[in-house]
Amino acid sequence: MENKNTSINELEASKQLGFIEELKELFDKEFEKSGKRKTFHVETFGCQMNTRDSEKIAGILKQIGYEEIASEEADFVLYNTCTVRENANNRVYGRLGYLGKLKQKNPGMMIVLCGCMMQEGTAVEKIKSSYRFVDIIFGTHNIYKLAELIRIRLDSRRMVIDLLKETDMIVESLPSERKFKFKAGVNIMYGCNNFCSYCIVPYVRGRERSRNPQDILDEIKMLAEDGVAEIMLLGQNVNSFGKNLETPMSFAELLTEIEKIDGIDRIRFMTSHPKDLSDSLIEVMKDSKKICKHLHLPIQSGSSRLLEVMNRHYTKEGYLDLVKRIRTAIPDISLTTDIILGFPGETEEDFLETIDIVKKVGFDSAFTFAYSKRTGTPAATMENQVEEAVIKERFERLLEEVHKESAKAAGKDEHTIQKVLVEEVNSQDTSLLTGRMSNNVLVHFKGDKNLIGKIVEVYLKESKGFYYMGELKYPADFQII
Ligand code: SAH
Ligand code: SF4
Ligand code: F3S
Repeated sequence: MENKNTSINELEASKQLGFIEELKELFDKEFEKSGKRKTFHVETFGCQMNTRDSEKIAGILKQIGYEEIASEEADFVLYNTCTVRENANNRVYGRLGYLGKLKQKNPGMMIVLCGCMMQEGTAVEKIKSSYRFVDIIFGTHNIYKLAELIRIRLDSRRMVIDLLKETDMIVESLPSERKFKFKAGVNIMYGCNNFCSYCIVPYVRGRERSRNPQDILDEIKMLAEDGVAEIMLLGQNVNSFGKNLETPMSFAELLTEIEKIDGIDRIRFMTSHPKDLSDSLIEVMKDSKKICKHLHLPIQSGSSRLLEVMNRHYTKEGYLDLVKRIRTAIPDISLTTDIILGFPGETEEDFLETIDIVKKVGFDSAFTFAYSKRTGTPAATMENQVEEAVIKERFERLLEEVHKESAKAAGKDEHTIQKVLVEEVNSQDTSLLTGRMSNNVLVHFKGDKNLIGKIVEVYLKESKGFYYMGELKYPADFQII
């Protein structure tokens, strides 16, 4: 199977490179005539999967000859959409109206929609009927076809819609952009098989597919040669990586191989599902010099009863035990989480269980979401949907608890020296640099902008709650080049 698919994928990649080349010639000719390059703007909604997909989209567009601009007043505007919660969809509809007005001023403009929301029939129907000015719609499974779809649109006067329900294709070796020079996201798997009962992701991203380990390692080696110091491995459930490969390989084994790559100093990953987090992963993290001391471990609820209805496959006690094992092995690890409030049938008792686990774990930070009904998921048709006012009231109580706990966790590294990856010049005070520690916390300190992308040692002088003010410590042999 793998071999057959590999050759199909290679064929598809070369076909798409052909379309890119063809459009490039066309665009170069237009440029010779007009002296102006066509411009593009990509707007990304949702999670890091979408961010990474947008880099691939930008890579293809640049190769064709488009120039990227920050404003939406571009010749080609693409929205890479998210549909995990209703408000993500509403934001897209809100902004589409504005795009329509821009297109009236620039009729040659191309408006393109892709991403998770486009995998939903209802959203596409609404766009077809109410937003006729959209030029191209495609989904999450066929980003690699972008150049082909542009070609088709140029040759026709109609909206081009290309949607696949499912795919087992993983098309490698197409051009891709990178937003940062020194850090990069790397997909290790696509899709999700977990079907948590509230979640739309498995329906819009398809079944779980792991990338071939050698392709992942080759990509990371290339990134390292290109000066990337930190990588973020991406998947909806990285802990189940490798299970569907012809020669299975665990996530812990993959990490061990990545650790050996020279030039990569930091390895992050996201997201970890508690049910699949193995002891061998904890061991690998404990012994690693490169894996960051941070785990994002979504809990969703503290009520074992609700966790079962959510189809999460762990209990409150199981989660607490996992946290204990992680903290025993790696005492200074930072733990963050996601929590959903107002899942159908959530009672005051269930809610108090969530408050209790937040207290017991003492998360460094937590993302809290009001439950949003997603049509097509089992939870959407469950009885006892919780009233908005109740969710709102619980939300405030939960936030208070989360803040109390993260305030306790914050500041524990004050007056220590930590390794920091310098990310940027501080946007509010340009005399400062901003960097990130292994545990994902930010620190601001005075320093030269040539340090961006380098790992330096910083003395954490003062905790400001969720970040630190620091002082750069130059090792004796340090030189800025
Ligand atoms: N794969 C990741 C999460 C992806 S979605 C995981 O399993 O942990 C990111 C977060 O959005 C989830 O952790 C969950 O907290 C939240 N979420 C997903 N569906 C939701 C819904 N219908 N309503 C509210 N929040 C939701
Ligand atoms: Fe959604 Fe659950 Fe899959 Fe995460 S693991 S993407 S919450 S179905
Ligand atoms: Fe949203 Fe799709 Fe990510 S629904 S959260 S962009 S996988």
